[in-house]
Amino acid sequence: MNSEKSGYSGLQIGLHWTIAVLVLFQLLFGESMTTYVDAAADVRQLSSYEQTMESAHYWVGLSILLLVFVRPAVRLFVGAPKAQSTMPKWMAFASRTTHVLFYCLLVAVPVSGLLAFYVWGWMGDIHGWAKPVFIVLICVHAGAALFHHFVLKDAVLRKMLIPARDPAR
Ligand code: HEM
Ligand code: HEM
Repeated sequence: MNSEKSGYSGLQIGLHWTIAVLVLFQLLFGESMTTYVDAAADVRQLSSYEQTMESAHYWVGLSILLLVFVRPAVRLFVGAPKAQSTMPKWMAFASRTTHVLFYCLLVAVPVSGLLAFYVWGWMGDIHGWAKPVFIVLICVHAGAALFHHFVLKDAVLRKMLIPARDPAR
């Protein structure tokens, strides 16, 4: 079952980048759903482009929610890379905290979106806060990955680009 590996499997890498691209899509085009909510309030017809973007926001958001549960399952069965032993404690802590915050957001944001859509419209305001929070976290996370690669010149970013040999799948 769960064992320490030297890197991520192709499946884990694929999931990471798929979720990252889907989140970026949501952040770039999230306003499409606000347009839908405003149009419904003003009893205005949406253009076909607006309708497509609204339903894209819905389905991409649901896909993220689904995929985020596949990740820990894969981690449990395939294993996870061991933390670099040379990494200072504070750095390992910061990295773990960022990852946990990502997982919390990846569940809380689609759930708040669903609640805003179906139950409590006011939740939309809270849901909208996902944008700045995600942007800050992505900058910290991607910045750290690039710092590891270009300044510390270690294997952290490569681990998320090239599948390890030892994972089973
Ligand atoms: C990780 C997934 C998601 C992200 C990153 C995300 C992001 C966003 C963003 C940036 C906005 C625009 C907020 C603004 O105008 O300032 C928005 C609006 C909205 N999203 Fe999402 N969303 C996600 C998933 C979902 C899901 C699954 C639903 C379910 C239906 C949903 C429903 C809504 C609604 C109803 C609004 C309009 C809120 C309002 O203006 O009252 N979202 N979303
Ligand atoms: C929306 C965008 C992103 C999200 C939601 C995200 C989320 C995550 C999460 C949750 C992990 C922990 C994986 C685990 O062990 O379970 C992770 C790892 C990682 N991410 Fe991202 N990520 C995003 C974008 C990026 C970008 C743009 C880069 C590179 C520039 C990047 C590079 C990495 C690397 C190198 C790791 C491995 C860290 C390690 O094992 O110590 N990520 N990411």
